[in-house]
Amino acid sequence: MTDPIPDRYAVIGNPIEQSKSPFIHTAFAQLTGQVMDYSKLFAPLDGFAAAVDAFRVSGGHGMNVTAPFKLDAFAYATHLAPSAQMAGAVNAMKFEGDKVYAENFDGVGLVRDLVCNLQCPLQGRRVLILGAGGATRGALLPLLAEQPAELVIVNRTVAKAQALATLAYQHQTGKVPVTGVGYEALQGVFDVVLNASSSSLTAELPPLPASVFGTGGLAYDLTYGKGLTPFLKLAQQAGVTHLADGVGMLAEQAAEAFAWWRGIRPDTAAVIHKLTVPLV
Ligand code: ATR
Repeated sequence: MTDPIPDRYAVIGNPIEQSKSPFIHTAFAQLTGQVMDYSKLFAPLDGFAAAVDAFRVSGGHGMNVTAPFKLDAFAYATHLAPSAQMAGAVNAMKFEGDKVYAENFDGVGLVRDLVCNLQCPLQGRRVLILGAGGATRGALLPLLAEQPAELVIVNRTVAKAQALATLAYQHQTGKVPVTGVGYEALQGVFDVVLNASSSSLTAELPPLPASVFGTGGLAYDLTYGKGLTPFLKLAQQAGVTHLADGVGMLAEQAAEAFAWWRGIRPDTAAVIHKLTVPLV
């Protein structure tokens, strides 16, 4: 008997060498017994649509999308899920004939990591999120669905934080207070502080007062694999003992995509364990 032909998936980006997605999805396929092949696809900056067209013609079933193509994928999709519409960006696509279904699983992956893996329920808590770019935008509705007491968006460019706060407040199903402020206007202590700014990519410290951290709270950097970032170091110096980076979010958003494609949800613990970089 011949082996079945694997269904083909890929992650597309530029650059793409650094992507952990092939490792993660190959591990998920082994765990769940799915026959699939998952590769890296490099596309020129002006060549997203042509590369995806070619992948689909060759029988590709679905794709993850990483920088800088999340907006290209948004434009390419024929069917945008609410998560992608709210995020204004796409990180997973599924191909069915001439239909291109598009999702954004980053926010739901973050919330699953917080609530399930890190045992940090958000309901009734004060939550602060740093940054008002794409990462924050994707996280807002999943965070609000957990019914925190309050969600504050803080950003250097205050107008961007305010615009996102208004957008999120209008689109949420509940009535959680959402505000957008500048760093100097922050008041009080937060139970959960999330760094969704890109500061950790350049090893910069956001202008965050250490007084926002409660010692029993959680400080979470959405960046993955940078160790103890300046943000996490500030939290540690302020007495926070529960520190985390985005490794769990990375695994959980991948698990969401995998379940969407294959109809089976993999356990993420082994992948998170393998990809964890110590916070030192
Ligand atoms: P992404 O899609 O990764 O969120 P982005 O859309 O470029 O990236 O947004 C980056 C966010 O990080 C912005 O909110 C930016 O703040 P400004 O809007 O004021 O520029 C924020 N950011 C980047 N570097 C920062 C730093 N050193 N301190 C604080 N915020 C920073």
